[in-house]
Amino acid sequence: MTIHTAPTHDRSHIVLGIGGGISAYKSVDLVRRLKERGFEVRVVMTQAATALVTPLTFQAVSGHPVRTSLLDPGAEAGMNHIELARWADWLLIAPATADLMARLAAGIADDLLTTLALATNAPLCLAPAMNQHMWRHPATQENLQTLRERGARILGPAEGDQACGDSGPGRMLEPAELAEAMRPQAERRLIGVRTVLTAGPTREPLDPVRYLSNRSSGRMGYALAAALTHRGAQVTLITGPSALPVPTVAEVVQVETALEMHAAVLARMADCELFVATAAVADYRPLECAAQKRKKDAELLTLQLVRNPDILAEVAARESPPFTVGFAAETEQLEIHARAKLAHKKVNLIAANQVGGAVGGFDREDNALTVFWEGGSRALPLMSKPSLARELADLIAEHYRGADATAT
Ligand code: CTP
Repeated sequence: MTIHTAPTHDRSHIVLGIGGGISAYKSVDLVRRLKERGFEVRVVMTQAATALVTPLTFQAVSGHPVRTSLLDPGAEAGMNHIELARWADWLLIAPATADLMARLAAGIADDLLTTLALATNAPLCLAPAMNQHMWRHPATQENLQTLRERGARILGPAEGDQACGDSGPGRMLEPAELAEAMRPQAERRLIGVRTVLTAGPTREPLDPVRYLSNRSSGRMGYALAAALTHRGAQVTLITGPSALPVPTVAEVVQVETALEMHAAVLARMADCELFVATAAVADYRPLECAAQKRKKDAELLTLQLVRNPDILAEVAARESPPFTVGFAAETEQLEIHARAKLAHKKVNLIAANQVGGAVGGFDREDNALTVFWEGGSRALPLMSKPSLARELADLIAEHYRGADATAT
């Protein structure tokens, strides 16, 4: 089942949204500074912003037509708003006014910019700019919290003298600071990186109605597939049965057994650059799957099980393997077992979690991980699986790019 195909390119594309704040004039310089750092910038302005700076100014500095309205047949005939949403690797809104943040937090899509914010997969970065009382207002602070929890990155604001004569927090960061703040975001990118990610449990049939399986929900794998997609990776998600809605990724392949997952992975290895194994693959399968439903005629039933292939180890042992990330669920001696798997399976990163305790692990909302690599480790403390997935995706990107730099 193919959901949609993500674009492949190696540039960092920023859609820069300009809100109706007086600091919009500073964003002209911001476009220039972002371009100096290798970003390609397309500007979208709110109606209010056009009263402060003309679209023509932004057109001149960005080198592209400026979009101001959702219902503009001429502009839609060029790159329409959905294409623009797909084009974006980042949606940066600077200045982000109190009104814009309220509309974004509420999910309102009453103009082009707020519609794009809903339509894009790209991470949202906000540079708030407003009067200090507006900034401190509980409504604004609650909206900010909502947007943060959804993964928006908030850049600033700074404290100091304001255009209205007040002094306090609410000044937009300077263009140089904003452009600098976007750089680490760019370093975390995985644009166009062909990624295969396994997720969920596998089911090993005993007969037409019964199977052996485990308690994996697929939650961590799905969250990680979404986080890697947000960083630009072109993700093929190969998933065992899960009750969760599949995330929007480049391709989704539904499988049931470990052997099906194994075949689906191997069929996609030729041009795979990053392989992430989050699936809880059954280590064994019944030797025979009965053609008819097994009857309860014996008092004692013995099942014979055979080993399934270790998908991760097989991928890592290829002649030119992709960058590999494995998971390890351990009930004791986390570091010793995780490091043993790292060495034995020859993978680049192992994300290990403690299972069987009161918190985290299988089929839970929260989790904590310790990520090990040769010569280092990083602990990611207990947090929601989507937040953890974002932290882990950043770490994978850092190491993937590090390995890339060493190879070239
Ligand atoms: N894995 C895999 N194929 C298998 C078994 C495991 O690709 N047949 C992957 C998992 O997706 C995970 C990693 O290997 O990324 C570790 O799996 P785990 O079951 O924790 O470790 P094992 O190597 O099976 O060792 P053990 O069960 O003895 O702890």
